[in-house]
Amino acid sequence: MKGVVFTELLDMVEGKFGEDMVEDILDDCELESDGAYTTVGTYDHKEFIKIVTALSKHSEISVKDIVIQYGHHLFFRFNKLMPEFFEGPKSAFEFLESVHNHIHVEVKKLYPDAALPSFKTHRQSSDTLIMIYTSKCPFADFAQGLIQGTADFYKDDIQIKTEDKNSDSEFCRVFTLTKQ
Ligand code: HEM
Repeated sequence: MKGVVFTELLDMVEGKFGEDMVEDILDDCELESDGAYTTVGTYDHKEFIKIVTALSKHSEISVKDIVIQYGHHLFFRFNKLMPEFFEGPKSAFEFLESVHNHIHVEVKKLYPDAALPSFKTHRQSSDTLIMIYTSKCPFADFAQGLIQGTADFYKDDIQIKTEDKNSDSEFCRVFTLTKQ
């Protein structure tokens, strides 16, 4: 997992809970990286799971809620860090449709060792977008937070329904997104 995902996570924790919380959770985790992340480095995605699990213990917020909140937060950070991806799409649906065939393709050029999920999308009707997440990594909640961030950013009122369809080899979540 790319270092930017870790550096932004620790920045969010520091902003919301303070510096001491960052120290406490890193002390708990005994990470191979020692928590010394650089944005361009690559680290085991299990370290991400260890950090959010430790934060959950210290904050009494569930891991699921932390990961969703983080996805939401990161969306707005991406807007600041990589504004070029926001120039084309005019709505949440258009943005989400550009993730797999445009944004993540460019991310892969920037970071060839990025481990990116797959998203299939199709419009079931003018108000409903189906978005199917599949990945070797268990980050469907992270995707959910990013989707919520997208909806809030574009000020589109979207109901999100989810159905998990994990198999032995992959994690899969079907998102049914309906404009209200
Ligand atoms: C400007 C927008 C975006 C940028 C720049 C971006 C970039 C990235 C980067 C750098 C990673 C890390 C890859 C790695 O760790 O190896 C990543 C992973 C991921 N991205 Fe995006 N992303 C964007 C939007 C989105 C959106 C809107 C979604 C959800 C619909 C999404 C879903 C994910 C997920 C779930 C992962 C974790 C890897 C996995 O589950 O396999 N991304 N993205």
